[in-house]
Amino acid sequence: MPAFSASAPGKSILFGEHAVVYGKPAIAVPVRQVQAKVIVTPKPKSQPGNIHIQAPAIGLDTDLLDLAPNHPLAVAIDLVLSHLKLSYAPGCNLRITSTIPLAAGMGSGAAVSVALIRAFSAYLGKPFPPEQVSALAYEVEKLYHGTPSGIDNTVVTYTKPIYFQRGQPIEILHLPASLTLVIGDTGIISPTAKAVGDVRQAWLADPGYYEGLFDEIGAIVQQARSALESGQLEKCGTLMDSNHALLCELDVSSPELNRLVETARKAGALGAKLSGGGRGGNMIALATAGEAVQISDQLLEVGAHRTIITQIGAQS
Ligand code: PMV
Repeated sequence: MPAFSASAPGKSILFGEHAVVYGKPAIAVPVRQVQAKVIVTPKPKSQPGNIHIQAPAIGLDTDLLDLAPNHPLAVAIDLVLSHLKLSYAPGCNLRITSTIPLAAGMGSGAAVSVALIRAFSAYLGKPFPPEQVSALAYEVEKLYHGTPSGIDNTVVTYTKPIYFQRGQPIEILHLPASLTLVIGDTGIISPTAKAVGDVRQAWLADPGYYEGLFDEIGAIVQQARSALESGQLEKCGTLMDSNHALLCELDVSSPELNRLVETARKAGALGAKLSGGGRGGNMIALATAGEAVQISDQLLEVGAHRTIITQIGAQS
């Protein structure tokens, strides 16, 4: 039996995070410079059901049986098996590597799930189609997020710019002009579930006020969609700035994120905002191709842990 491998990219939310959990639309893009990869290698001489998992980035080197049953990797493997109505798999080794920063708003959990579900279903002779990969990865996302919108597993599975709204068919966005994004990492680990949970508490305490903010974010996403599809990049930048202001109102920004956002704007970005769950993790800036390096250098100078410059094109 050959080895099976699959990979999945990181992602960045351009517009609409948090409000998307409450049914508003959002726009996300794949970030291919960072990837999660899973290789499944058969172990023909081992006992059936013996699955060994190695994930050096999180210091994991263990048999599946020794993992807690609600561990996201164990859940992903179980979901694939139960979908195929199998009670166990032929013995194998599962190696997981990832260059996507953890808990930083770049979809690392979703990418690992997607790559694992793809590689493991292929190993079992039934490679799942994208909608099934995304649906199972969504089940795993619930462990990380509690109430995920589903945007992460969707963009990471389809690896295209998407317009996403809960419960609606996904729409692939076709961009006439490529986008240059500079992603700046605060280096602060920030679990999405915490930020999402805090927004939920605030919404429960004052639903009218927070629904007003979600509506405003939803309206920005609609305008951003037309601006992106008609190549109006300056308008997109302005809308990113407005989206960031509303995320500050939701109290999911932080001084470090605000510093990077301000720095990117001063260095010539068309617009900038936090991206993902917030509080830490990453921000993004929309740049003209000529200014991206300068923006990245300035971000590093004021303390970004790392930056990624990525181009998103129609063919992404
Ligand atoms: O996983 P993150 O941190 O990139 O953010 C997910 C985006 C949220 O809107 C905050 C949560 C969700 O489930 O959509």
